[in-house]
Amino acid sequence: MNIVLLGAPGAGKGTQAAKLVAEYGTAHISTGDILRAAVRDQTELGKQAKAFMDAGDLVPDSLIIDLMNERLQQPDCETGFILDGFPRTTAQAVALDALLSEIKRPLDAALLVDVDPEVIVKRLSARRCCKDCGNIGTAADASCPKCGGEMYQRDDDNEATVRNRLDVYAKSTAPLVDYYRGKDLLISVDGDRPVDDVYADVKKGLNL
Ligand code: AP5
Ligand code: ZN
Repeated sequence: MNIVLLGAPGAGKGTQAAKLVAEYGTAHISTGDILRAAVRDQTELGKQAKAFMDAGDLVPDSLIIDLMNERLQQPDCETGFILDGFPRTTAQAVALDALLSEIKRPLDAALLVDVDPEVIVKRLSARRCCKDCGNIGTAADASCPKCGGEMYQRDDDNEATVRNRLDVYAKSTAPLVDYYRGKDLLISVDGDRPVDDVYADVKKGLNL
């Protein structure tokens, strides 16, 4: 399966991607995770991306498109990929189409995890992530339920930055819903329900 996950920040893209990866072993490519690792390791990409990420703004298209052109040609993508957090602008979507057509791996679906913005502000204020394994949890987890590692709060999960991320989503990324609908690739699931119920709809939508 070659799929794009769409949805506002905090809609549950990473949570659903982790479940698909656990069940089907597909390559999970999260631009947010790649960028956070680059910031942590202080690479050139990380240095260029940090201020945009801290403000909840998008990193420039040119950096992201170069990064993904390289990433999508790695061997682990040959059997399928889940794109989480990319594309986020029309320019990125057009660049993705060009690359996928060149490497002859067309998209099967664009899956929208649909959640109301007010639900999202609450969810993201409570989100915690594992320092060791990247597992996504909440403030109720004293330590990582998967590996016992230390949980931390992302720098961009404070209310002001979350609200800016939602504005950026509405302006720059939400138009991609129509973009993929126009290509007859859009599948939408209601993401404001328990994780396993959302996942059941994800599988149904993808014919899995
Ligand atoms: P990124 O890391 O992609 O952040 P995001 O899109 O804001 O998405 P999130 O990771 O916040 O949310 P999610 O939908 O994965 O939700 P999750 O499953 O964690 O990007 C960060 C930054 O990097 C951007 O702001 C930008 O600067 C830069 N960037 C990244 N990609 C870029 C690109 N392509 N172009 C330019 N810049 C880019 O769930 C959230 C919480 O809710 C968790 O606590 C979870 O436990 C909980 N939860 C999940 N599902 C449910 C449910 N069904 N019910 C209740 N709680 C739930
Ligand atoms: Zn962990």
